[in-house]
Amino acid sequence: MEKEKKKLIVDGKRVNGRGFDDLRPLKVTAGVLKRADGSAMIEWGRNKVLAAVYGPREVFPKHLSDVKKAIINCRYSMAPFSGMEEHGRSGPNRRAIEIGKVAKHVFENAVLTHQFPKTQIDISMEVLQSDGGTRVAAITAASVALADAGIPMRDLVQGVSIGRVEGQLIVDLDKYEDNLGEADVPLIVSLRSKEVLLFQQDGRISREELQKMFELGFKGAELVRDVQVQALRQRYFETGDELNNHG
Ligand code: CDP
Repeated sequence: MEKEKKKLIVDGKRVNGRGFDDLRPLKVTAGVLKRADGSAMIEWGRNKVLAAVYGPREVFPKHLSDVKKAIINCRYSMAPFSGMEEHGRSGPNRRAIEIGKVAKHVFENAVLTHQFPKTQIDISMEVLQSDGGTRVAAITAASVALADAGIPMRDLVQGVSIGRVEGQLIVDLDKYEDNLGEADVPLIVSLRSKEVLLFQQDGRISREELQKMFELGFKGAELVRDVQVQALRQRYFETGDELNNHG
């Protein structure tokens, strides 16, 4: 089959030139939108994702509100021009709904929702360009957008995808590696609590591999976190913009 023929590792290196643990170049910019309460743009390799946060605000329709905490809505969408694949009709497809759902779970475990009862927090993640790992990139950007909106969280969350190609574990898969590799595992973690907040699995992996994948994931997340923190520093200390205050 075509899948077996293509080589992803040649002479002990990934064909994209990266070492096994190397992440693609990563840049995060916080506060890129004026109308949103918080926003961030992430450029990660060839991925470009814009995340925006609106809220906390009154719940609509009202009967959905929770007297104990804020409800979190997450929308992930891919622009029709964002990828190389056919997207068919516009609107959310099954994959986009799934990613919105897993992102919602991540933020329900990260945001201090009990501080904002009877409100909703809307998080939009718009993929403008994609090249593998967009869910991890989108959630990483959304976390910065939440911080930009001044919404308190247990931790600034982030992650990276880990995979196996030709028997070798690699970090931060591009689309080619994601599609042709043997396994891929997107991870989102909280470094503070050492918790895994998102774990999905495509392909078979052994228990030992999973352990190693978590180690690589936490290591990669530290690099991602540095970039997120730098983006927030830049936003507040260098531009002098006011912090949105929902307290
Ligand atoms: O992006 P992520 O790795 O989180 O999700 P995926 O479903 O594993 O998709 C891998 C990659 O395939 C995406 O990053 C896109 O580059 C591409 N893709 C696409 O172009 N169009 C789609 N409808 C789905 C995926």
